[in-house]
Amino acid sequence: MSNQILVTGGTGFIGSHTVVELQNSGYDVVIVDNLSNSKIEVLDQIEEITGIKPKFEQFDLTDKNKLAGFFEKYSNLDAIIHFAASKAVGESVEKPLMYYHNNLNSLMNIMQCMNDFDVNNLVFSSSCTVYGQPEKLPVTEQTPRKEAESPYGNTKSICEDIIRDTVYANSKLKGIALRYFNPIGAHETAKIGELPLGIPNNLIPFLTQTVAGIREELSVFGDDYNTPDGSAIRDYIHVVDLAKAHVVAIERLLENKNQKAYEYFNVGTGNGVSVLEIIESFERATREKVPYKIVDRRAGDIEKIYADTSLANDELGWEAKSTLDETLHSAWKWQKHIMA
Ligand code: UFG
Repeated sequence: MSNQILVTGGTGFIGSHTVVELQNSGYDVVIVDNLSNSKIEVLDQIEEITGIKPKFEQFDLTDKNKLAGFFEKYSNLDAIIHFAASKAVGESVEKPLMYYHNNLNSLMNIMQCMNDFDVNNLVFSSSCTVYGQPEKLPVTEQTPRKEAESPYGNTKSICEDIIRDTVYANSKLKGIALRYFNPIGAHETAKIGELPLGIPNNLIPFLTQTVAGIREELSVFGDDYNTPDGSAIRDYIHVVDLAKAHVVAIERLLENKNQKAYEYFNVGTGNGVSVLEIIESFERATREKVPYKIVDRRAGDIEKIYADTSLANDELGWEAKSTLDETLHSAWKWQKHIMA
């Protein structure tokens, strides 16, 4: 019988791509999602790609009783991948309590149920935001975490600590936190991808909407950073490469290949790319022109960050495979698909 994996937030952007990769690797997936930032149709899209419609339960993970009922119903879970969370940095500054409530309570409820129902493997969506602006680049897992720049970022740091402490208090529990850099792109079939609500905050959805004519112009936030072309640098990773990192993390836990009960890994490409280089690469990959203007820096943005991925390469045997041009091409294909 195949291993059963609970994927919380499995209809979301990274979650849906991970469900596809899990199913393609033979796992039996059950999704829990409250659909606050995703659509139920994603289940059909996943079925179109993999031939299997994942099991689905709609409720909010902050509801302890519902979650306990879920664990009673699904009594054969082998592992959990916990994506479900509020994730807009700006909104978290406006509504800190909502962010602490959603992101911390869901994780604590999940871990309580893991203890109560003897489910012992957890993979968690963390973020490179825990490093803030590092002194030295690239960042390794030894790079110290910094005080968070936003309530959202703080929830990621606190969640990592909650997992570490809970894992060390229960000798059966194991956890892996994956610190994502900037996930972009979409599945090659263009059947799933990122579906931002309203005006996108993130670079790539704003860029593709601009090229599609939905937005007039992309604003490049700052050209006076201490970087070769003056625009800010990030490590952009194809969401399918990121999804595959979750599959290997699950295998590591299920096959007891982990070195420690709680581990964390950077998941990026290792390449630092500026906003202007993104525009260049997009234009090259798609032969579309990106209308843009340079504006002031965005408050709260860091100058540059990119990953040292050696630990994930060596320990997980995983590396990002897609080129930036391929990744941006997939983002454009997805944008055209959702407008068709
Ligand atoms: N940018 C623009 N114009 C835009 C949007 C973004 O120039 O319209 C720039 C930003 O200034 C930044 C880069 O593009 O330099 C990437 O910005 P994103 O908003 O796409 O991503 P961030 O790096 O700001 O944020 C991402 C995730 C967060 C996470 C953070 C960790 O969205 O969830 O990485 O560093 F917290």
